[in-house]
Amino acid sequence: MEETSLNLTRTLIASRIGLLVREQDDTLLRKMVAERVRALNLSSTEQYCQFLGSDADIRRERKELTTLLSTGETYFFRDREQHVLLQDVILPELLERRKAERSLRIWCAACSSGEEAYSLPILLDELMTDQSRWNIFIIGTDINQDFIEKARQGIYTEWSFRGMSDARRQRYFHPHKNTWVLDGAIRNRVTFRAGDLVADEFPDYASGLYGMDLSLCRNMFIYMEPHIVFRIADKFTETLNEGGILVTGHGELYAHHLGKLRTRVFPASIVYQKGATPFALPAPVQVFETPHAAPIKPAAAKPATRKTNAAEASPPAVVATGKETAVTEMEMAWQYANQGQRDKAAKVCGEIIAKNPLIAEAHYLLALLAQERGEFTEVKSLLKKVIYLDPSFIAAYLDLGDLYAREGDDARAGKMRATARDLLQTLPGDSQVKFYGVSTVNAVLQYIEHLLSIRH
Ligand SMILES: C[S@@+](CC[C@H](N)C(=O)[O-])C[C@H]1O[C@@H](n2cnc3c(N)ncnc32)[C@H](O)[C@@H]1O
Repeated sequence: MEETSLNLTRTLIASRIGLLVREQDDTLLRKMVAERVRALNLSSTEQYCQFLGSDADIRRERKELTTLLSTGETYFFRDREQHVLLQDVILPELLERRKAERSLRIWCAACSSGEEAYSLPILLDELMTDQSRWNIFIIGTDINQDFIEKARQGIYTEWSFRGMSDARRQRYFHPHKNTWVLDGAIRNRVTFRAGDLVADEFPDYASGLYGMDLSLCRNMFIYMEPHIVFRIADKFTETLNEGGILVTGHGELYAHHLGKLRTRVFPASIVYQKGATPFALPAPVQVFETPHAAPIKPAAAKPATRKTNAAEASPPAVVATGKETAVTEMEMAWQYANQGQRDKAAKVCGEIIAKNPLIAEAHYLLALLAQERGEFTEVKSLLKKVIYLDPSFIAAYLDLGDLYAREGDDARAGKMRATARDLLQTLPGDSQVKFYGVSTVNAVLQYIEHLLSIRH
């Protein structure tokens, strides 16, 4: 296949299907295209490109290509630390929050053959003593109907248990020939259905995909084009209850500023919570503490205490345009961004920068907005600018680190994270990290240590 045809197919698969085929996956791409040309009875790659670019319903094609591209690789309790976090922190917190209604709704999206979805009723079984008094709904979905059929059966081979202790396996499964059969009581607690996260509309009341307290979508975004990632993240947000939590694989939603989702950083993982304080904390709060600034109410929740620290000691991003005006403008930009009025937010940032190009915070918000559009070259250049303007801008190092990690550049990612760690170490452990959700310095430090320790 000619290089130009290959590149065109890659572009069409990205734009029409939403799947990311990296340049290093050329061999796989050639194989996939050859297979699809054959299966569709087409005569050439060019014809396949015409098909992808046409108005034809490509839902089926997405399913076929997804099946060829993603392995469905999964196992019980994959990522042990995230499951400990679920069992020790997230599920108890959700149960506490929902105890008046005694109702809990969980969605395990892109669940493959069901191991991940079934890990949840097992965790709940170990946690709860009064499950029979609760109304617990757990649903697993995947684009691949074959995986869904397998999930419904609840029969697994040895390979699915590589993350599960023998004790758990003995308790919840019984051996049958050379397989393990899931206990019927656990199996009946999960409903499975096929669905396409790209094409389907959410919330989907007919399928029970609404009002979720917890959604998991792990190891799927890695196959997706950035613009699709953001679209799907928006769908999850709309499907979550207020206060509901989204868990992804590490670094998969490396942007921690996704509309109404805010980040919570734990040593084991970042999770996303739907709440009233999206886009992290707008910075103007730092200026309110200066003796001359007028006390304007911050739009988002304010940390209980704010202590002076190295990051805050740097000149606030407002000085040269006239403090009050710039504070108000910057606050307005954050508010627009938080309300999803991204164009307006970008316009205000542009106006601030036109008056004073040295305002790091305005460049940072522009970087977040570019991130949401999936314009990563732009994001990178803006984040670098932020760091140049304010070398103590911790969130920018963390974002850039995530961006490099996503590109597979572990060395640069490590460097960014190590710098963030060094800066964090100068701050009080219980203070909050500016622009980085509502997590404390200590929690982010532990998270960085975790990321640095799992580098390959
Ligand atoms: C690598 S598996 C991850 C399984 C499980 N979440 C885990 O982390 O162990 C990725 C899964 O995403 C599913 N998937 C890919 N694209 C999808 C889409 N558009 N809608 C729903 N599921 C999708 C694939 O079929 C596959 O089962």
